[in-house]
Amino acid sequence: MDKVFVSRRLPAPGLAVLDGVAHVSVNPHDRPVTRDELLEMGQGCKALITMLTDRVDRELFAALPDVRMVANYAVGYDNISLDDARAAGVVVTNTPGVLTAATADLTMALVLGVMRRMVEGDRLVRAGKFEGVSPLYMLGADLGGKVMGIYGMGRIGKAVARRALAFGMSVIYHNRREDPEARAELGARWVGFDELLAASDVVCVTAPLTPETAGRFGMAEFRAMKDSAYLINSGRGPIVKESELAQALSRGVIAGAGLDVYEEEPKVYARLLPLENVVLAPHLGSATVEVRERMAVMAAGGVAAFLQGREPEHRLT
Ligand code: DGY
Repeated sequence: MDKVFVSRRLPAPGLAVLDGVAHVSVNPHDRPVTRDELLEMGQGCKALITMLTDRVDRELFAALPDVRMVANYAVGYDNISLDDARAAGVVVTNTPGVLTAATADLTMALVLGVMRRMVEGDRLVRAGKFEGVSPLYMLGADLGGKVMGIYGMGRIGKAVARRALAFGMSVIYHNRREDPEARAELGARWVGFDELLAASDVVCVTAPLTPETAGRFGMAEFRAMKDSAYLINSGRGPIVKESELAQALSRGVIAGAGLDVYEEEPKVYARLLPLENVVLAPHLGSATVEVRERMAVMAAGGVAAFLQGREPEHRLT
């Protein structure tokens, strides 16, 4: 039987898919593998199931020449050089679709969390500082009637748009190109990047990390937003310059932010931590029991298909 290495312990139904199909070894530590561990534990394996924390590139393919397939346990694949995989003739898959709704739910949780001051309020109650309801107490902002601006109208962006519509928001978006489906299904209007910044009450980043999106949001962009606007990032951390965001939040350049992803995870820029007007989640987008099981079954199912000579689903290369 072929050997498969899984770089982080997965929900059991995923590993069960490979029973009788492959000799599976799993990272024994309750932490990401180091580079050296990955290159050592992957020796002799025909397939790897990798995490966002594993860099998959030319160096890895050279060190692990038996690897013919990499199943990334994520929809995002900015940890993988697809060019290097193609050059090495390695099949790469990801796990799209199954995490769309959960990630959109979490994105809306950030929107609600910061606009309705939920997390700040929770801290206040726990600190024994709740003195009773009063007319001017802890006022947040309505979602209804506001403009949701989506940066990256892919599957997750559209799922966020559906949820925003249900809250009475209208939706505009910016992608490289207009998406006719977004207009037809959601009534969402394509706008240029400058208009997205100027017109949105909430700017939601749901784009993948690419050379074009990296560092796209910094002080110039925050200044171009309304001072009453909120920035939400559930895409990838390096799309937003955290140090400039912390400055913008502390100087009132924008009203607030909600982040699920960070420039150098798991590190978070220290000056964000004391700010009341930012909600910080620990990369929870796809973190539900159901979704993580489906992702595991999908990733392992692709590996099983490949090892049995069938076409794996969700091929990127
Ligand atoms: C993904 O799948 O890309 C998510 O960020 C992982 O939670």
